[in-house]
Amino acid sequence: MAHGDFDHTQDNVKPAASNGIAPPSFPLPLPDSPDTITANLVLLIGQTPDPRLKFIYQLLVKHLHAFIKESNLSTDEWMAAIQFLTRVGQACTPVRQEMIFLSDVLGVSALVDILNSPVMGGATENSVLGPFFTEDAEDIENGGSIASDGKGEYMYVEGRVLTTEGEPIAGAVINTWEADDNGLYDTQYADRTHPDYRGRLHSAKDGSFGFRAIVPLPYSVPVEGPIGELLTSQGRHNIRPSHLHLMVEAPGYHEVITSFYPDDCDYLTSDPVFGVKKSLVVKLEQVDDDVEARKRGFPKGGSFKLLKRDIVLLTEEQLRFARQQVIRESEKLYLQTKND
Ligand SMILES: [Fe+2]
Repeated sequence: MAHGDFDHTQDNVKPAASNGIAPPSFPLPLPDSPDTITANLVLLIGQTPDPRLKFIYQLLVKHLHAFIKESNLSTDEWMAAIQFLTRVGQACTPVRQEMIFLSDVLGVSALVDILNSPVMGGATENSVLGPFFTEDAEDIENGGSIASDGKGEYMYVEGRVLTTEGEPIAGAVINTWEADDNGLYDTQYADRTHPDYRGRLHSAKDGSFGFRAIVPLPYSVPVEGPIGELLTSQGRHNIRPSHLHLMVEAPGYHEVITSFYPDDCDYLTSDPVFGVKKSLVVKLEQVDDDVEARKRGFPKGGSFKLLKRDIVLLTEEQLRFARQQVIRESEKLYLQTKND
């Protein structure tokens, strides 16, 4: 069929349709100036039925428009931004979430986390989950090893899982994972046959736990994608400080997803994903004692590093209480904008 002979009567053509919402009943000036565009959109979003969503939309639009006006964004710059965001979306696969990576390097993940995880009662603080957690970690005995032998420097991790009152939490599930001595997670190997450098164990009756691992090393976050391009364009390095990941849960307690960061790493303060908090920086103790090393199950004995740190969990109730503060702050702002 030649162009121009388009068959408008064919069955699969759906006519343009209204979404069923009537035009606003209030008057709107023609959007012919920067400020009118913003004001009109804020008024239109004012029709959002959900009050919290309305608040978020209106605030977002005000800040977004203010950014565009303040930076006097050029058409080319905006088009470059749209193309960049398109590439971020296109880089996502079932095993790679480039959008989360974007949120991470922009500090948004860390910011949302810090607002939603108030510090209280000496509870262990959160850190970023990162993209390398898997569900298939093998169960190990308390005192067992998460890493296959022969690689890296020996490290033993031990502590207790406690309440904020210092009471032991028995049977807490501890998932832990780290990169190997190549700075790679097992999932980054195409020929991965089984989980390695990761494991799941349970705290004992007295809340204690211990496991063999290796001293973590700094590693690079992937750069062969739009986020790598972003980091390079901002003159930022892509090395995460060395860390050991932990995810700890127990019934009635709020699950903590965190990492411990050895204090001797050069990249601690310039983590590209802003995961490091002061309370999560740990000192590794050097133990030069062959008997101690063998007692902890290190096959070659010799010396090892000791990471000693308790994990303190909040009850769900404690967390709800702490979050009230954050919500109250946000509500103050909401009421303020409502009266604008
Ligand atoms: Fe990591």
